[in-house]
Amino acid sequence: MENLTLNISKTLGFVDQSAINTLLTKANESNAKLHHKTGKGNDFLGWINLPSSITTEEIADIEKTAAYLKSVSEVVVVIGIGGSYLGSKAVLEALSHSFSTLLPNQKNPHIVFAGQNIGEDYHYELLEMLKDKNYSIIVISKSGTTTEPAIAFRLLKKNLEEKIGKVAAQKRIVAITDASRGALKQLATQEGYKTYIITDDVGGRYSVLTPVGLLPIAVAGFDIKALLKGAVDMEKLTGEETPADKNPASVYAAVRNALYAKGKTTEILVNYNPKLHYIAEWWKQLYGESEGKEHKGIYPASVDFTSDLHSMGQYIQDGQRNIFETVISIAKPNHSLNVPEDKDNHDKLNFLAHKAIDEVNKMAEIGTMLAHVDGGVPNIKITLPKLNEYYLGQLMYFFEKACGISGYILDVNPFDQPGVEAYKNNMFALMGKPGFEEATKKILERID
Ligand code: PA5
Repeated sequence: MENLTLNISKTLGFVDQSAINTLLTKANESNAKLHHKTGKGNDFLGWINLPSSITTEEIADIEKTAAYLKSVSEVVVVIGIGGSYLGSKAVLEALSHSFSTLLPNQKNPHIVFAGQNIGEDYHYELLEMLKDKNYSIIVISKSGTTTEPAIAFRLLKKNLEEKIGKVAAQKRIVAITDASRGALKQLATQEGYKTYIITDDVGGRYSVLTPVGLLPIAVAGFDIKALLKGAVDMEKLTGEETPADKNPASVYAAVRNALYAKGKTTEILVNYNPKLHYIAEWWKQLYGESEGKEHKGIYPASVDFTSDLHSMGQYIQDGQRNIFETVISIAKPNHSLNVPEDKDNHDKLNFLAHKAIDEVNKMAEIGTMLAHVDGGVPNIKITLPKLNEYYLGQLMYFFEKACGISGYILDVNPFDQPGVEAYKNNMFALMGKPGFEEATKKILERID
């Protein structure tokens, strides 16, 4: 099996090889710290060996639950936010038919998401859609107290119980939560829900290869064994024994930090396949929450090309020169389709007739990369041979490993998220949560 490849040649006009070499040495040390658990946040490193340590029995159990949910549901609602939903959402969007909701005779349930926002209309419309559907719920929250998914779960639990009765609903709800402390664990035990545990040493944004990601992906009918196999192969390739210059995670971490040191403070993850939109959303959470702290960190942004060449393309070409791009390129599409010939040729595009659509896309990709490099935007390119479970497994583990290494190069703890509390505290104060009385008084004075 091939591996994803990393090409940094279009960064070399912007950073010296010697700077990269220095950072490669740091990357190597950082990788060793991850493996020896000697760096910051070392109680959150359970994700490192997840792919190779998940057992056949655990996979079979996830597949069994998925088969059950498939057999009883037209729709499965996955409730979660942040790391508790972005991984599965990313894989599902990448692998699903672009128009699956409009295709007849689907053999797998539709997966929809809830609790990833507090939109009243969103949740109202969700309940409206579910009215005539057989549905099940996968509720994912490590803490069990996160406001957004907790509200969504209240709504859906009540709705499902009213619809099919409490006992039947209990069989249609699967909880994925922490081992003992979380509120959801207590409820799941009390109600007898099928439950999966996220161990304490795996943070939300590093949890896609646990049941958090694997169960929804399996319910949607995708091959979780292939996803895990890709991750296992990347776990090996990025292991401690691989020299830094042969370890793609170390090279990526070193180069992005070399660019950051040169003032390239924003990284734009670019795709040329709309199916990768949510991979970028997952990546933004992974890198934003892991690195953006102590007033440091590369700002992770994303675009979908060629769509966004008609919106953000101007800025990237000619705006502030504090950006670099990381392009995810898929070597081969899964289907083939050519540009048709047109006898009138009003659009003057007959020179493209009979060419594969992907060939045009690839020329857009190469042309854009060269234009952006010429305009002062360094480019890193990651190539996946194909878009499938195996290479998504490789890609996601690659990004996780590189994120840990990069965070250590930056000298932050890549596994906590203290900054996320500030908005929550304000929201609780504004909503009058018991215990927040003093904060409520103070915050109300600040509102005009
Ligand atoms: O990466 C993280 O840890 C966060 O994004 C969490 O996943 C997110 O806040 C949801 O938390 P919980 O699973 O406790 O509801």
